[in-house]
Amino acid sequence: MASPTPQQDQWTAVDEYYAKLLMSPDAALDAALADSAAAGLPQINVAPNQGKLLHLLAKMNGSQRILEIGTLGGYSTIWLARALPAGGKLITLEYEPRHAEVARKNIARAGLADRVEIRIGPAIESLPKLAGSAPFDLVFIDADKVSTADYFTWSLKLTKPGSVIIVDNVVRKGAIADPRGDESVQGIRKFNELLSKEKRVDATALQTVGTKGYDGFVIARVK
Ligand code: SAH
Ligand code: DHB
Ligand code: MG
Repeated sequence: MASPTPQQDQWTAVDEYYAKLLMSPDAALDAALADSAAAGLPQINVAPNQGKLLHLLAKMNGSQRILEIGTLGGYSTIWLARALPAGGKLITLEYEPRHAEVARKNIARAGLADRVEIRIGPAIESLPKLAGSAPFDLVFIDADKVSTADYFTWSLKLTKPGSVIIVDNVVRKGAIADPRGDESVQGIRKFNELLSKEKRVDATALQTVGTKGYDGFVIARVK
């Protein structure tokens, strides 16, 4: 990897400063990251402060049913599932059985196996089977970026007024503003076009910097 820019060092230092102040030591989350890394999973989980943001948003809208698209090792899953009340449910969709297996263990160790269901397969095949579990109060879209517009379209079918839809990786080191970006950027730009015309939601985009570099989230609320 290229050596970090001075800016990156500063972003990391500030994340660490706030983590010390606002984040509690958390054995289950630490173990989830350690075992994900040991299993060779890509280290592209949300950062701790971003995980806590997801958790807070789920609490703020009183989420009882949560849908996640893109599980990886279950790090964001754990943050989100911990926001659920007793009887709440989170369904998370993952294409790679190997990722799902690591996630299953991480989620069980966090004491959340009763609330979380992992559905293995291409998300685009799992989504049409979710009508019986809908409406979801919160959807976190964080899988293959080329399909983000399709996942958003499904999310609208599976939510209700007041639901929150969050999309990760909408900035990509600023590449999103360049119409000639790679296929992931094209995927997010296609989603953004759809979002801009969608009357059923209010939405904003937030740029983020920190340990994970420079990226961002779209946060939308179903009207
Ligand atoms: N939300 C996780 C990170 C997800 S990384 C976290 O923050 O902790 C993206 C995940 O999406 C990877 O595990 C990848 O295997 C999965 N994925 C990629 N394409 C997919 C598809 N078509 N359907 C479902 N999952 C997919
Ligand atoms: C990548 C994917 C992500 O979901 C993310 O948060 C960061 C990076 C990637 O595929 O590179
Ligand atoms: Mg992501």
